[in-house]
Amino acid sequence: RILFLVAQEILDSRGYPTVEVCAGLRDGTVASAAVPSGASTGRYEAVECRDGDPNRYEGRGVLDAVANVNDTIAPALAGMAADDQAGVDAALIELDGTEYKQRLGANAILGVSLACARAAAQSHNLGLYRYLGGGEARVLPVPMFNVLNGGAHAPGGSDIQEFKLIPVGASSFSQALRFGVETYHCLYRVLQDAGLPTTVGDEGGFAPTLKSNAESLELILRAIERAGYRPGEQIAIGLDPAASGMLKDGRYLLKRDGLSLSSDEMTDYWEDWVASYPIISLEDPLADDDWDGFRNLTARLKDRVQVIGDDLFVTNRKFLQRGIDSGACTSVLIKPNQIGTITETQQTIRLAQQARYTCLMSHRSGETCDTSIADLAVAMDCRQIKAGAPARGERVAKYNRLLRIERELGEKAMYAGRSAFPHLSG
Ligand code: PGA
Ligand code: ZN
Repeated sequence: RILFLVAQEILDSRGYPTVEVCAGLRDGTVASAAVPSGASTGRYEAVECRDGDPNRYEGRGVLDAVANVNDTIAPALAGMAADDQAGVDAALIELDGTEYKQRLGANAILGVSLACARAAAQSHNLGLYRYLGGGEARVLPVPMFNVLNGGAHAPGGSDIQEFKLIPVGASSFSQALRFGVETYHCLYRVLQDAGLPTTVGDEGGFAPTLKSNAESLELILRAIERAGYRPGEQIAIGLDPAASGMLKDGRYLLKRDGLSLSSDEMTDYWEDWVASYPIISLEDPLADDDWDGFRNLTARLKDRVQVIGDDLFVTNRKFLQRGIDSGACTSVLIKPNQIGTITETQQTIRLAQQARYTCLMSHRSGETCDTSIADLAVAMDCRQIKAGAPARGERVAKYNRLLRIERELGEKAMYAGRSAFPHLSG
């Protein structure tokens, strides 16, 4: 049973405030969880509570969210069973009472939801993945390593926010991690040899200023080969253009290429790339209000690439259902803080799995060393996860957690590999 809940303001990886919640149970268990924060956020994400006080952290303080936990949520949840996750989350949703959690803040609510789950898992002496997923949870997700950053995460870099390595050909998670790290280090040398800077963006990927967007792909292919891997077969490529951020007056603006494209032309552009490079995953290739564009693009490309809705679906069942009904995307990005509770995250994943959409568990560009998403990916059988480059503490925390889960599962562990991408096997 919940004895206390205490929140405090801590910093995320960009140096902005975020919420950490500590949950204490009557049996003496104490556990905490911290909440991440995005930069290229979707329009209909659950709302973060920020103070707006210009004299503190540019208005980005979270003292109000902290107070909402300490003064409103804590007294309401005191005495509840921490291991009744559905009950805890239902109480949080009811207490907030708004569709997008703007009263108490999704940062306050998710912090409590996660801290309760952590405390309950600990009190049952189980890893979080095992507590939430049961004895069946044993599939390690395919990691996507964001090795070149652009867009809102590295202004001045590529127009495309994320270029990711996908080690589909590895035989275990630990081997997949090694494939990714070795290639990341080779990319460092490829950039150095080309006289390009090796400074990094928000998610730990390199962020050089290049002459064209396609040059990023050429550099990555060179790095994969230099590391001794076969592009496509062992390491494929995934993109997140986060295209809402490229939209200006109804046209997609690609500054590096000097292009201004309609939705159809933008789709032609991606089709051309998918035909020319070993790209197997494409996230938010169009803007989050371009539902018709998404439907067309999905119909044209779905046999060759996984089409993921991130800003389009915002981990919300309602928008995912609209996608399923209209044929938009074949995959959904899962960011717990876009929706605000573990239970709702599970519901979205379940809906996706029923509709044969794939699920990609995801961090945010502003992170902490909290590793919950690693456990959630295994517990909910997501089969894919992205947590940034295989470098920087807040990114590798998730990958290291997956290494530990894989070791703990021992013989039982299974690496999702190519099976995570149904379109690859037709
Ligand atoms: P964000 O970006 O965390 O800044 O929203 C991640 C993404 O777009 O996938
Ligand atoms: Zn995205």
